[in-house]
Amino acid sequence: MNDLAALALRDGTCVPVRGIRADDAAALQRLVERSSERSIHLRFFGPLRELSEESARHFADVDGEARFALVALDPDDPDEIVAVVRYEREGETGGAEYAALVEDRFQGRGLGIGLTRRLIEAARENGIGRLHAMVLRENTGMLNLLRSLDLPERKHWRDGAEHIEIDLQPGAAA
Ligand SMILES: CC(C)(COP(=O)(O)OP(=O)(O)OC[C@H]1O[C@@H](n2cnc3c(N)ncnc32)[C@H](O)[C@@H]1OP(=O)(O)O)[C@@H](O)C(=O)NCCC(=O)NCCS
Repeated sequence: MNDLAALALRDGTCVPVRGIRADDAAALQRLVERSSERSIHLRFFGPLRELSEESARHFADVDGEARFALVALDPDDPDEIVAVVRYEREGETGGAEYAALVEDRFQGRGLGIGLTRRLIEAARENGIGRLHAMVLRENTGMLNLLRSLDLPERKHWRDGAEHIEIDLQPGAAA
């Protein structure tokens, strides 16, 4: 998905959405800089003063199949990324790790769920059968978001986090 699409938030705000591009690395660093300590802790499981150039380049560099990410742009400033959702295939397991970060001022407005639904469409088209999310127990927003997808999920607790597997092809032959 390289073309610009629009996603309507619950309050009616229209947010441009597109696939991530290699030249988004600096905007990803700025998104992390603007994010609160709490959001960074929930996303990266610890403090992070800044996203290194190397990590930002890695996150922005996807192949659109095994590694895929969507970004939402600030409706008032299309140079700034206000949210990113991604998946990364985990070996040959048929599953992929999922992660998301929504800038604080855009949280709770339907952006995370809207982006995640679009990510899931792309993941299915790319043959991904399951998404795997690692979520801290206090992260009720993420736990609620995953539950509101209304897809079968399995949870287990390991290494201080909930590991949640979402089945993207319910009903498909095993
Ligand atoms: C977690 C995160 C990605 C969720 O994105 P978001 O845009 O804030 O969430 P959304 O508004 O799309 O949806 C989540 C909430 O809306 C609810 N919701 C979803 N669809 C809904 C609908 N159609 N109508 C009403 N409520 C709905 C969800 O149940 C959830 O409930 P909450 O009120 O307890 O938060 C975001 O808050 C974030 O980036 N947090 C910090 C980093 C982080 O936690 N990353 C995830 C690490 S795995």
